[in-house]
Amino acid sequence: MKKVRIGVLGGYRGKTMINWCVTNRELADVVAICDMNPDVRENVSNMLAKSNFECTLYEKFDDFLNHDMDAVVLANFANEHAPFAIRCLERGLHVFSEVLPCANMKQAVELCEAVEKYGKIYAYGENYCYFPSMIEMKKEYRLGKIGEFEYGEGEYVHDCESIWPRITYGDPKHWRNQMSAFFYCTHSAGPIIHTTGLRPVSVSGFELPYGKRHFEMGAQNSGAAVEMVTLENGGVFKSLHFNIKGHNTWYNMYGSKGRMETGRHGFDKYSIQWLYQWAEQEDKTTDFAFYRPCVGGEPYEGRFGKVGQREYRAISDRGSDAKSSFGHAGSDYYSMENFVKAVSGDESADIIGVYEALDMFFVGHFGYLSALDGSIPKVIPNFRNKEEREPFRNDTSCSILASAGDMPLPFSTKEHDEIPDEVYENIRDKFEGKKERKQ
Ligand SMILES: NC(=O)c1ccc[n+]([C@@H]2O[C@H](COP(=O)([O-])OP(=O)(O)OC[C@H]3O[C@@H](n4cnc5c(N)ncnc54)[C@H](O)[C@@H]3O)[C@@H](O)[C@H]2O)c1
Repeated sequence: MKKVRIGVLGGYRGKTMINWCVTNRELADVVAICDMNPDVRENVSNMLAKSNFECTLYEKFDDFLNHDMDAVVLANFANEHAPFAIRCLERGLHVFSEVLPCANMKQAVELCEAVEKYGKIYAYGENYCYFPSMIEMKKEYRLGKIGEFEYGEGEYVHDCESIWPRITYGDPKHWRNQMSAFFYCTHSAGPIIHTTGLRPVSVSGFELPYGKRHFEMGAQNSGAAVEMVTLENGGVFKSLHFNIKGHNTWYNMYGSKGRMETGRHGFDKYSIQWLYQWAEQEDKTTDFAFYRPCVGGEPYEGRFGKVGQREYRAISDRGSDAKSSFGHAGSDYYSMENFVKAVSGDESADIIGVYEALDMFFVGHFGYLSALDGSIPKVIPNFRNKEEREPFRNDTSCSILASAGDMPLPFSTKEHDEIPDEVYENIRDKFEGKKERKQ
C-alpha cells in the first residue's frame, strides 16, 4: 500500500498527529509542517530530529500548501478550520480537521459545498468518538444490544483555569477567550451522535454561571453550557461541557432493551476505557458486562454474566497497549488511524464526514441561539438537503469577532464587568514565566 504523505498545519496540538505518523512509518509520512510561531517550529524540529524523521518546515500557509503531499491535518485556531479546509480541498488534498469544523453558518455552507465539489476525504477529528470504550459502544449499539436509543448523556468537563495562561497567552482576542460557552460542544455531543447515527433535530441551551475565576482568566463567558438535544427518533440527550471544576469525561445511553455507560475519565487515565452494559435478552433474563475493551481483540479485563444468577465469565489480562495509551486515552490514535485508512481507500474506515461534523457543531451554535432567547428550543437544519442551507448562506453570526463579519453575537448570555487590560497583562506575565508552553 502506498504511504500517505501528510502535512500538518499547527504544530502544538498537531504534535499528536505527527507522533502518530512517526509511530506508523509504514503507513504515513509527515512531509511538511507549518506554524507561524518560531518557538513551535523549533520544538517540532527537535522532536523530529530525535526520531530521525525529516520534513520541511514552513512559516507561511501559502508556501506550505504548494508542498507535494496527499493530505493535510488542520490543527490551527479552532475558529479558522473551514477556510483552510476549503483551500486544501481546492488543491486536491484530503483533510483531517481538528475541532471545531467551522465557526459560523456561512462557513458551514461553504465547507459542505467544497467537500461535495472536490470529492476528497474530509474527516472531522472528534477524537472523543474514538475512545476504545466508545468504539465498542458504537459496535454494540449498532448490533442492537440495548435496542433503540431513548436517552443519553455526554459530559466533557475540563477545568482549564490553571492552564489558561499557556493556552491563551494573555491574548484577549484568542478564540478561547471570545468563544461562547456553547462553541466547544462536540466532545460531549459528538460521541452520542456518532454512536447512534441519529441526527439532532432541535436543541435548548443553558449557560452556567459566570464568576470571579472566569473574569480573572480573561474569559468572556462562563466556559460551560448544557444542551438538551432531541434526535430524529424522538430520543433526547444532555450534553455538558466544559470549563468547570472536576475533571470528567463520561457517556451514558439508555435504549429500549437496556443501557450502556463508560467509566468516568478523571479517576485515572484508563477509567474512560471501561464499559458497563446491562441488557435484557429474548428470554427476559438480563445480561451484564463490565469490561475494558481492546479495539479489534479480546478485552483486557472484565466480568460478564447474568443478573440474579451465578453464571459469569471473568477475564483478567492486565496487558497494556501502546495504542490505548496514546493521547486522550487512546482516542487520538484511532481517529488518525481511521483517517489514514480512508485516504488509503479502506471503505471500512470509520470517519466522521462533513454532514455529521456539522450536526455536532449545530448543537452548540443553535444551543447558543436558544440560550440567548430564553432557552426555547431551536430547530437544527439538515445540511444534507441543499435547500435547507440557503437561509444561512450569508450568516456569519459568531461570538468570536474575527469570524463574525458584521454579525457579532455577544460573548455570553451572562452580564459581567468589562475585563481590563491589566487582567491580560497579568496572564501574559504568567505565560512568559512559563515559556515552555509552546515547547
Ligand atoms: N481534540 C482534542 O482533544 C484537542 C485538544 C487540544 C486542542 N485541540 C484543537 O487543536 C487546535 C489547536 O489548538 P492548540 O491548543 O494547539 O492552540 P492554538 O489554537 O492556540 O494554536 C494553534 C497553532 O496553530 C498555529 N497557526 C494558526 N494559524 C496559523 C496559520 N495561518 N499559519 C501558520 N500557523 C498557524 C499557531 O501558531 C498555533 O501554534 C484547536 O482547533 C483546538 O480546538 C483539540
